[in-house]
Amino acid sequence: MTFDEALGLATTGAAPAEAWLAPLLACGDDDAPRLYAAGDAARQAGVGSDVHLRGLIEFSSYCRKDCAYCGLRRTNRVAQRYRLDIDAIVATAREAEALGYRSVVLQSGEDVWFTPARLEAAIRDIKESTDLAIALSVGERDRETYQRWFDAGADRYLLRIETTDPALFAALHPDDDLAARMACLYALRDIGYQLGTGVMVGLPGQTPEMLARDVIWMHDLGAEMIGVGPFIPHPGTPLADAAGGTVEGTLRLVAVLRLVFPHAHLPATTAMGTLHPLGRERALEAGANVMMPNVTPTEIRPKYEIYPGKICLADDARHCRGCITGRIVGLGRTIGTDHGHVKRVKAEQEMD
Ligand code: SAM
Ligand code: SF4
Ligand code: FES
Repeated sequence: MTFDEALGLATTGAAPAEAWLAPLLACGDDDAPRLYAAGDAARQAGVGSDVHLRGLIEFSSYCRKDCAYCGLRRTNRVAQRYRLDIDAIVATAREAEALGYRSVVLQSGEDVWFTPARLEAAIRDIKESTDLAIALSVGERDRETYQRWFDAGADRYLLRIETTDPALFAALHPDDDLAARMACLYALRDIGYQLGTGVMVGLPGQTPEMLARDVIWMHDLGAEMIGVGPFIPHPGTPLADAAGGTVEGTLRLVAVLRLVFPHAHLPATTAMGTLHPLGRERALEAGANVMMPNVTPTEIRPKYEIYPGKICLADDARHCRGCITGRIVGLGRTIGTDHGHVKRVKAEQEMD
């Protein structure tokens, strides 16, 4: 199928199919600007000009897992480990609210010090003392735990599937199982969380056809937030010498996702800003509508090194807030002033 035929199908709302997704994801540099423009137009039509901000709190760098791509993997002996205690997490969330955020993301490695009860205490305290929406991004737990945190007030959950290709998933995750990860996402959806997932771009051996199948799977899942970023090789991992992903490859996926998910929340990720100073702006102009500025206390930021060269390590939360505002306004966009909850269009239509 030609690029123009594929773009025609995408812009007329055809059901996502590998036959037309893969040619868009593999398009050449000459065609790419038209794909990005289509993503940008679909973003304007679907979710408007607002960019929603989520303050990112990286509260623990301990992890029980050994994902081949990640600097926090448990066998990376030179990784620096820290964890904020419950009071410090709550205090950081309050600071985020004071800086004007309406939402925070609590993210960590899979740190079992945070028992169901401990993270529940943090969630309840934030909910009682602020008006913040809370997203969790703390990896795989059992269904009862997810339910407990939802009942405590967590609104959203972010768990990237990373790839749906069985062989690639197995090669990257020595202690994980694709079916188990999928089961986590089904449980989170069924419990009622606003559901976030996503993939990395540029994983070793990853093809446009694999990414196309990822998009179809995320569509079938009913994903409401989709975070995608380039894979950035970390020197302390087995993939240190891999080529890694690119800004351009990731932009193609951002635009394709916007065409397939007109109403979803798509972040312009930190990894994009790490590969290029204007990587996040370019994502915002190819379909993205969310940014996740760091609000983690400055002194511990360097210890959450999932990949090298991460931006904002020496900056504080106030500085990042101002920086992000300037970037968004500079593009002629507006900053969302509400909680930025996902809009469940189908459910609303059924109720009409
Ligand atoms: N531990 C939780 C999990 O894995 O879901 C949350 C934290 S984990 C650091 C968040 C995301 O970082 C992962 O889903 C993965 O996609 C991304 N990540 C890890 N290593 C990366 C790398 N080297 N380059 C780009 N993104 C990476
Ligand atoms: Fe741990 Fe998440 Fe990194 Fe995997 S991606 S090693 S689960 S922090
Ligand atoms: Fe942190 Fe720009 S977002 S300095």
